[in-house]
Amino acid sequence: MLNKNDSSFTGNARSVSAIDWLPEGKLKLLDQRKLPTEEVYIELSTAADAAAAIKDMVVRGAPAIGITAAYGVVLSVLKSGPDSTDQVARDIEVLAASRPTAVNLFWALDRMKRVIQQHESHGSPVDTLSRETLSQETLLQEALLQEAQLIHEQDIAANKKMGASAVALMRARQSTPIRVLTHCNTGALATGGYGTALGVVRRLHEENVLGHVYADETRPWLQGARLTAWELVQEGIPVTLNADVAAGHLMQAGKIDWVVVGADRITANGDTANKIGTYSLAVLAKHHGLKFMVVAPESTIDMQLRTGQDIPIEEREGDEIVAVKGQIIAPQGVHTFNPVFDVTPHDLIDAIVTEKGIIEYPNETKMRALFAKTCD
Ligand code: MRU
Repeated sequence: MLNKNDSSFTGNARSVSAIDWLPEGKLKLLDQRKLPTEEVYIELSTAADAAAAIKDMVVRGAPAIGITAAYGVVLSVLKSGPDSTDQVARDIEVLAASRPTAVNLFWALDRMKRVIQQHESHGSPVDTLSRETLSQETLLQEALLQEAQLIHEQDIAANKKMGASAVALMRARQSTPIRVLTHCNTGALATGGYGTALGVVRRLHEENVLGHVYADETRPWLQGARLTAWELVQEGIPVTLNADVAAGHLMQAGKIDWVVVGADRITANGDTANKIGTYSLAVLAKHHGLKFMVVAPESTIDMQLRTGQDIPIEEREGDEIVAVKGQIIAPQGVHTFNPVFDVTPHDLIDAIVTEKGIIEYPNETKMRALFAKTCD
């Protein structure tokens, strides 16, 4: 475990890298459980380590989970060798079982599985020079690493594109400055870099049209307080942290124009699973006549599921509710209910912004027009 208080960390969130592949064949993760008080990095050598890191929230956020799982497959092949296909398949199952709601996890694992299948049938799709100089074993490792790195890079590119088009839509719909309320953490920490909803905030700031950003603290795990506020403070973007229950009051007081959130899974009709509390925000936004935007890459779209009712909603241990950082705040023996995502119906959403395009007032017809895959 490395403590990077004296490291290359510069205090600028643009340089924060939550996920890094190390040349010696290890995966380095920023331990998000320790933020904002400590910046601790851990190095992983096995797929089981990567699965545990996802399950235990060392790394979290839908795209970041997918990227970590992809690197987890690389770790699996490095450790077990390409001939241990059974072990690699078992590792992929362990990675897939780490968290249920964010579809990016399964999407990334499918991409990695396709590379393995391609290697088995035609040899690995690495560049010609590598093909001439490397053994079959190394070729598969190289091909998997290239795919994981591509998934990582494509996510950053998607975020930047979504940030630009989301801001263009906002500016077309209203005069500036634009005031935003966001929920959970959707920034560089939750993605390959830059961020989905927080990427929009970054872009508003870059274009000098950000009126203000309010960040919900996001009970119970406090992604907003610990991570979003941290990222924005690092970057010098003025942010006000509020308790989740203050959101309605903020809207009533006329301080918000747009609610902007990320997503963990969007179904064929546009229903959107995101961090618990998102649905309440959408209802509140509708009541107050405010705009509600979901920002998510194509890897978050699940056209196999028709509606949000089909999305598996993760429930986590009650400990997350009865204690804050180990401090007990509820009586011993109390029953708890801790669903960590909820579903916002598509008719409460003004726009879903993806790198492939924007869907205003989403429904199944519009979703299918943009994302050709069908659900049966
Ligand atoms: O439980 P988490 O922290 O993994 O939940 C994260 C969220 O719900 C985010 O809002 C979502 O993944 C979008 S992140 C780009």
